[in-house]
Parts: sequence; C-alpha cells; structure tokens
Amino acid sequence: MTSETIAQIRNEAAASLSPEQQQQWEQFLTPMPVAEQAVSLFTPTDRPVRILDLGSGSGILSAVVAGQSAAGSSVVAIEQDADLAAASESSLRQVCDDVTVINDSVFNVMLDDQFDRVILNPPYKKIRPMTVATSGGGAKVTNLYTAFLMMAIQALDEGGECVAIIPRSWMNGDYFKDFRKWMLSECSIDALAVYGSRQKHFKDMNVLQEIMLLKVSKRAQAGTVTVYADVVPDRPLERQPHESVALKSLLMGKDQILRIRQQDPRLAVFRPMSDQGLWVSTGKLVWFRNRDVLSDIEQPNGHPLYWSDNQCGMVMTHPIKCDREQWVNGEADSRNVVLPAGSYCLVNRFSSKEQHHRIYASYLHSDVDFVADNKLNYVHQGTSRRTVPLDDRSARGLTLWLSSSIVDEWYRQVSGSTQVNATDLRQLPCPSRMQLGVLADRLPVEGDVDQNQIDETVERLFSWVQAS
Ligand SMILES: C[S@@+](CC[C@H](N)C(=O)[O-])C[C@H]1O[C@@H](n2cnc3c(N)ncnc32)[C@H](O)[C@@H]1O
Repeated sequence: MTSETIAQIRNEAAASLSPEQQQQWEQFLTPMPVAEQAVSLFTPTDRPVRILDLGSGSGILSAVVAGQSAAGSSVVAIEQDADLAAASESSLRQVCDDVTVINDSVFNVMLDDQFDRVILNPPYKKIRPMTVATSGGGAKVTNLYTAFLMMAIQALDEGGECVAIIPRSWMNGDYFKDFRKWMLSECSIDALAVYGSRQKHFKDMNVLQEIMLLKVSKRAQAGTVTVYADVVPDRPLERQPHESVALKSLLMGKDQILRIRQQDPRLAVFRPMSDQGLWVSTGKLVWFRNRDVLSDIEQPNGHPLYWSDNQCGMVMTHPIKCDREQWVNGEADSRNVVLPAGSYCLVNRFSSKEQHHRIYASYLHSDVDFVADNKLNYVHQGTSRRTVPLDDRSARGLTLWLSSSIVDEWYRQVSGSTQVNATDLRQLPCPSRMQLGVLADRLPVEGDVDQNQIDETVERLFSWVQAS
C-alpha cells in the first residue's frame, strides 16, 4: 500500500510538472519498477542507515530505500524545485520518521561523509567544464550527472553504498576520463546494469539516452563486478541474466574505458590499434567555420573534399552528386585542414539508429592532398600532430576489419551511443599490418561484397592466426 502511495505521488508530480521547468532542470522522474530495481542493488542490512538522495524529485528513490530499511533510519533529500521538495516530504513521511528535505541546489549544501546509502537519478545535462573539489585537488567534469555522482560518492561513510541511475556515456570516450580515473581510485565498482533499449523505461518522460544503474561502495575494489548487460525494466534484477567478472577484464587502455561485457576471446590475440602505430584522428574541416573555402567545382590549387556522403560501400568515392560541396579552394592550405595524399581508412563519427552497423568504414586512396570533414575519423600511421598515410594493403585490410560483425559487436560493448569516437577506436584490438595485408588480398574492398563474405574472410583469419 505504501509503495502504491509513493508511486501515486510520483505520478501526480510527473503530471503537474511545468514543461519549461522540466526541460531546464531535467525533471525526469523515475518510475516505480526502475526505482525498485535500483534499490535492490543495495546490500540488505538490519542496522539503521543514513540515507541521502540528491535531486530527489518526488522522493521516490529514497522512499523505497527507507521503506526497506531498519527502524531508526534517517533520510536527507535535496531538491531545488519547491513543489517537488514538498512531494519528497510527503513520500518520505510515508516510510520514515527522521526526514530532512532541503529545498535548495545540491551545490549550495555542505554534506558530511557519513551516509550509508546514497541514491540518485540526477539531471544529465552537459555543462561547461567545472572542477569538483576532491581530497586530491579536484576532477574536471563536463556533465551534471558526473558532478552529482562525485558529490554522492564523497558523502559515503566507509563501507557505505551508492546507487545511481545515469546515462552510460561515462564508461567510454575522452570527456569522462578524469572522472573515471577519480572514481576508480575512490571506490569499488560493484554492479553495472545497462538497460537494453532506449525510451521504454522512462516512457512517460521522453528520455532518449541509454540509461544504466551503477552501484559503487566506499572500500577497496571488490574482486568481481556484477554485470547485467541487457536489463528489462519489468522483472526483478536478480531474475535477469548477469555475470560476475573481474573489473580488470572490463577495463581497457590508459584512459580506462570500461566495457560492458568481457571481450570476445578471439580478439585476445590482437593488440589495440594505438599499440601498433595506427592512429585515429578526426577530420579537420568544420564546414561552418570554413564556408568561404567550399566550392561546387574543382578549383586550380584546390583539393577534393570528403564528407560521410562520399562513403559508397567500403570505398570513398569522389566527386559524387550531392548537395554538399565536393571541393575546397587553395585558401584551405592556410587553415590546417589539408591531409597528405595516400591511402587511409575513413570511419563515420555519427551513425543513425536505423543503420545496421555502428562503425561504417571506407577505404580511400587519393593521389592528391585532400580534406576530410569533421564528421569523419581517419586512420593513419602518424601521431596526433602529424598525419602519415597508411600503406595501401593496410588501409584496405583495416577497412575490411572495421566492417566485420565482430568489430561492430566490440564497439557496441564499449559505447552505448551512436557516436563513434576516436578515443574508443584507438583501443580496438586489430590484426598486425601483415595480417591486414592478408585480409586485403583475400577480399577486394571495391567489389560488391556482402556482410557474410566479410565475416567469413575475418573468420578464416582467426583460424589462420591460431594455427600459426
Ligand atoms: C532526473 S530528475 C530525477 C528526480 C528523482 N531523483 C527521481 O528519480 O525521480 C532530477 C531532479 O534533480 C533536480 N535538480 C536539478 N538540478 C538540481 C540541483 N542543482 N540541485 C538539486 N536538485 C536539482 C530536478 O528538479 C529533478 O527533480
């Protein structure tokens, strides 16, 4: 009955949100089934606990925790919206006598580090980089949710536990590397639970990001992490597939990218691209800052310009008929956007949800210096400062490798977003140059090649590598 009342307070609060305020403060309130799944990650205890809820909304999360906690437990909930703070008070009073609701921004409240249970579904907004103070001097964050999470973790008592409902984006990419580093040094990652597909779980709230549950605790890293890789919202978590794995087997590279599944063992024989002198850079031309150099016709002293539109199957084709300019004029030479002639593998940075593959790779051979749009990544054998083209067989072999299903699957385990970023790609296990050459000889990228042929060719490479 109490749970129904708390769900009802949540539903009424959700229905009466003002659309402007909802957008501005990201008031996406957690539905009861997801709240129950999140709370089920806490370790049951008979002791009274101190509970904290940051950005408490209607108070649903801390109310479910308090409802399952021993008599004598207390809750502090912080919510900056006055109506939602009042709703938090009503929810929490259903289940707990010792309730403090603070109607203010979490950034104005000084918290001690004495909480046993911290729960949060914070706002997810991107923010201008800010530094959150830590005992080690501070860590840079670029999203509100990581700022909230850092406050949450710092409020934990020794042995205390924190469960957060957050996007999956912190697990990979460059923007979150400081945060990952800080978190991995500060607490134990105990559970990761990623929801299978977007939207379903917050359907009355229109949340589009891929959402996950994260459980951490204030102690040295536990031996294993429990991973639920494909959660559905309407069944208790303990009845959903999960595995216990060593954290080490999920972490990759010095940027500590965290994958959601253990890597396919067939990839273990290959080293990451970045360890093999293969560097991934982002195309240098941002078109709206360089409108004046774009041209519909070939210009004396100009260069060909490649967009993702020029990806035709596994080959970059130029020029093509499309509504984007196919050339830049000679002015581009002074803008630091021109790349040296030669062979490359180009990869889209943005895929659409409808696209079959996240990674879409195409081989490029250009006899002349050229320009690549900023929505493309390109693989070369230089450094972040200097672009050096690949040898032709490596460029072709790499295009096949990046087009294989095993690589696409690898990428989906690393990133929940449709963006393909260079930092993640650099960690991709990749055959040696010699092996890439063998791939290139077996299947020409120019042909009318289907996915089965690519996968069979890659499959033969695995057998060959194992046998040699
Ligand atoms: C995604 S909603 C989730 C609400 C609630 N935790 C739940 O799970 O239903 C985020 C909440 O944080 C509140 N909020 C946003 N910025 C805040 C801030 N700086 N301090 C306190 N609350 C904030 C919003 O008003 C909103 O209620």
